Amino acid sequence: METKITRLDDFGRGVTRINDKVCFVKNALSEEIVDIDVIKEKKKYQIGKVNSYITKSDKRITPKCKYYDVCGGCNLEHISLEEENNFKKEKVEKILEKFASKKVKVNKIASEDEYGYRNKITLRVDNGRICLLEEESNNLVEIDECILAENKINEIIKELKEIVKDEKDISKIMIRVSNNLERVMIKVDGKVNDVNLFKEISDSLIINDKVIKEEYLLSNILDKKFLVSSDSFFQVNRKITEMMYRKIIETVKENKPNKVLDLYCGVGTIGICVSSYTNNVLGVEVVEKAVESANKNKELNKVGNIDFKCGKVENIIDNSYSTYDLIIVDPPRSGLDKKVVEVLNRSNSKTIVYVSCDPITLARDIKLLDNYEIKEVELFNMFPRTYHVESVSVLERR
Ligand SMILES: C[S@@+](CC[C@H](N)C(=O)[O-])C[C@H]1O[C@@H](n2cnc3c(N)ncnc32)[C@H](O)[C@@H]1O
Repeated sequence: METKITRLDDFGRGVTRINDKVCFVKNALSEEIVDIDVIKEKKKYQIGKVNSYITKSDKRITPKCKYYDVCGGCNLEHISLEEENNFKKEKVEKILEKFASKKVKVNKIASEDEYGYRNKITLRVDNGRICLLEEESNNLVEIDECILAENKINEIIKELKEIVKDEKDISKIMIRVSNNLERVMIKVDGKVNDVNLFKEISDSLIINDKVIKEEYLLSNILDKKFLVSSDSFFQVNRKITEMMYRKIIETVKENKPNKVLDLYCGVGTIGICVSSYTNNVLGVEVVEKAVESANKNKELNKVGNIDFKCGKVENIIDNSYSTYDLIIVDPPRSGLDKKVVEVLNRSNSKTIVYVSCDPITLARDIKLLDNYEIKEVELFNMFPRTYHVESVSVLERR
């Protein structure tokens, strides 16, 4: 049926109404008239798929990826990077106004390569085929490459395609490359017949959580080296991560804190990068292997003033943490636990640096942190061509 798209939602989908019910349409832009099929009917909304474009927006460009119509990995390849950045800025400002009741002007959005930026990819393997997931389903799309990934990853995918033709019982393969592109980590789930073939193309190999070759991948951010285990978080976009870390370092330098708390610290990257600008840092992280990596990274970078605690932030943090005058939080998408928000809000810490990958939970938490006010919000386009956006908000105690 023919319909007019009225706006974009937060996921970059076109929004229209069909039979008085909202309908979200991938690859459709505001003001476009499109012929769609409703492919999913839910109680409160529908999902539509474009059959043809009756009128096209002048903002539309041709998507670069040959799997764009089916693969669920990207959402914004049909607009320019400049339009994408504007969309992300407006989206974050709108979300902060709606959910935090704060009228904030986003400072700027740091943006770099639109393709070839990911240092990690998780592939599905189905009966010897290398795949990614389809949009809105568990169906698989066979691929030769992913243009969001570093070229080095695509070279490995080419080799893996040959290898897995005879490996029918593998379900998943994760590839991570070091930021200098010199080393490759491969993690395989499933039954492997010829382990040597995987060994030959990797520096670090983990099969079903068993280390076959080198447990850690040696990577780097700015002038620091980091060992990363396969199940630890590590930022996926090297150039944008460095820009974002520079912003955090600059904020720490300006504030000259005596003690810095690095909550949700992963393998210790932020804490280690800011350690020269304070007397003492404590990192807190729930994944045991990540804390093991963090302690190794402390030694590797010869940092004497940082310690790490393993556990859930909400189980560790209490009022005694008020002695930290600058607190960095970098939680997962779900944002901060209610207890963490309460403790932070009651704390005497002068500054909170909130690193977020989900503006909705960021806005929710900022609203609750009512003893703090927003000094600035800066965006980092860590995931170009997708609707995701990373932000750094500096909050100051009132
Ligand atoms: C977005 S990552 C940030 C990691 C790190 N700051 C960095 O830049 O690489 C979030 C981290 O929080 C950890 N995490 C998730 N829930 C947690 C919790 N409740 N308590 C402590 N750490 C948690 C995850 O394992 C992950 O390492």
